[in-house]
Amino acid sequence: MLTDYSRIVVAYDHSELSKKALKIAMNLAKQDKQIELIVLMVLQPARPMVYSYGYAFDSYQESQREEANAVRTEVEHEIKSLPNKTKAVVIEGGPGNMIVQYVKQNDADLVVMGSRGLSGLKELFLGSVSHYVVQKAHCPVFIVK
Ligand SMILES: Nc1ncnc2c1ncn2[C@@H]1O[C@H](COP(=O)(O)OP(=O)(O)OP(=O)(O)O)[C@@H](O)[C@H]1O
Ligand SMILES: [Mg+2]
Repeated sequence: MLTDYSRIVVAYDHSELSKKALKIAMNLAKQDKQIELIVLMVLQPARPMVYSYGYAFDSYQESQREEANAVRTEVEHEIKSLPNKTKAVVIEGGPGNMIVQYVKQNDADLVVMGSRGLSGLKELFLGSVSHYVVQKAHCPVFIVK
């Protein structure tokens, strides 16, 4: 049953639950080294209204990208400990939409993600990204809570 999944995508926003999702996905991947593991981070473009335009906005975007790349390097290091084929990628856009598109285009067969993420309002079970992905993904979604 586990080996039905040959390409697993972990949606990762560096929140505690996404770290837990990564651990679970790594354990799944350990069941069979044919499973490919991809950690996907979506960088949401900043809203120009908030940061005005020109230099302040550009440097904010740049620091966001640097931060995301630092996290990517850290995650890459962690997943390299597996014998499986692994990679960590950063793409830019709206998180829900980009995750759904990415798993489709890359023919993934399982998404693993947290129920909540960085904003983490406790009274709601699902955040907007997990809610969207559960509804729109073409493949099963494993929600970690
Ligand atoms: N930018 C992102 N890139 C990749 N995965 C993400 C991203 N944002 C959220 N996720 C995934 O979705 C899970 C749920 O996060 P979500 O953003 O839905 O909840 P939230 O942050 O609590 O609420 P909201 O963002 O709706 O205010 C996270 O644990 C993570 O697995
Ligand atoms: Mg969020």
